[in-house]
Amino acid sequence: MSEQRDWLRTALDRLAAEQARSADTHLLRYEFPAFPGVPFYFKDESTHPTGSLKHRLARSLFLYGLCNGQVREGRVVVDASSGSTAISEAYFARLLELPYVAVMARDTSPRKIAEIEALGGRCEFVDSAAQDHSHAQQLADDLDGHFLDQFGMAERATDWRGNNNIAESLLDQMRGEPEPTPRWIVCGAGTGGTSATIGRYLRYRGLDTRLCVADPEGAAFVEGWRSRSDDFVARGSCIEGIGRPQIEASYCFDVVDAVEAVSDVESCAATWLLESITGRRFGGSSGTNLIAAMRLAERMVDAGEPGPVVTLLCDRGERYSETVFDLQWLERHGLEIAPVRSELAARLGLR
Ligand SMILES: Cc1ncc(COP(=O)(O)O)c(C=O)c1O
Repeated sequence: MSEQRDWLRTALDRLAAEQARSADTHLLRYEFPAFPGVPFYFKDESTHPTGSLKHRLARSLFLYGLCNGQVREGRVVVDASSGSTAISEAYFARLLELPYVAVMARDTSPRKIAEIEALGGRCEFVDSAAQDHSHAQQLADDLDGHFLDQFGMAERATDWRGNNNIAESLLDQMRGEPEPTPRWIVCGAGTGGTSATIGRYLRYRGLDTRLCVADPEGAAFVEGWRSRSDDFVARGSCIEGIGRPQIEASYCFDVVDAVEAVSDVESCAATWLLESITGRRFGGSSGTNLIAAMRLAERMVDAGEPGPVVTLLCDRGERYSETVFDLQWLERHGLEIAPVRSELAARLGLR
């Protein structure tokens, strides 16, 4: 008993020390000629030590598992992931000297698999994302391990009232801006944890800021939001991290004010455009967010309603050099991005 508590204390100390060594992520401000009075703010989550917004979630899931007595010395931890979460979880597992296994769809970007393995994690593959959850649960049972269950636990493992969650962090960073209260915050939905945290926090702080979820056309957040039921067949998407095939346990539709359905070709074209805007590469879900943010800004300009729009740059683009940033991959997926990218640049007033 006391040995277990000693190990737990050491584990919590290591997580706290890791947090102290890590800086907050940047909030970047851009103004586009087509949107006067509507500045864009990009919360750059790619600058976490493990390169994505999932660094926050993985830290929370480990803390939750530790404080629930489920993450224990020597016990294997398992999760289902589209890759970004697994990279962050492998990092924290290594920090705590725990074995880690990720269950992922076979077509996950090779770079992500390499990152997980470089951090000492092991990858198991399933044919589609729809099977990852049940496979991971079964594997954890077979190994007598702990199933971190990001899809089930994301909304409750995250401290929605604060503790520097993503909403608190970005709203604090807005404090010195000419207009500190965003009109809209746009995010994607993988687990739904980020949207649940932001939506709850906005209400908790009594803000009028509205929350928009950007999801691939035909995916579960879009369809579930429309029908408020799970009576649909979701369409697949090649935007990793979002566009889930079924409604996940952490989806909280009631805290979301709008949902924008974005085609894969728009997401990929916007991802390339983001590189021209920022000089850096981000993943496909950041492009999905940009499309939704642009649509909201266009409506705001039409309605004569100024104010900031905040969105997220979710992860590093280097992870997608063999997918979204590979012209042959785009062609294989029938994604002709060049004309869409030019049209998007024109809509921002860039050329
Ligand atoms: C790259 C990327 N963007 C966005 C998201 C959405 O985040 P959340 O899981 O909190 O809904 C994810 C989640 O899997 C992701 O991997």
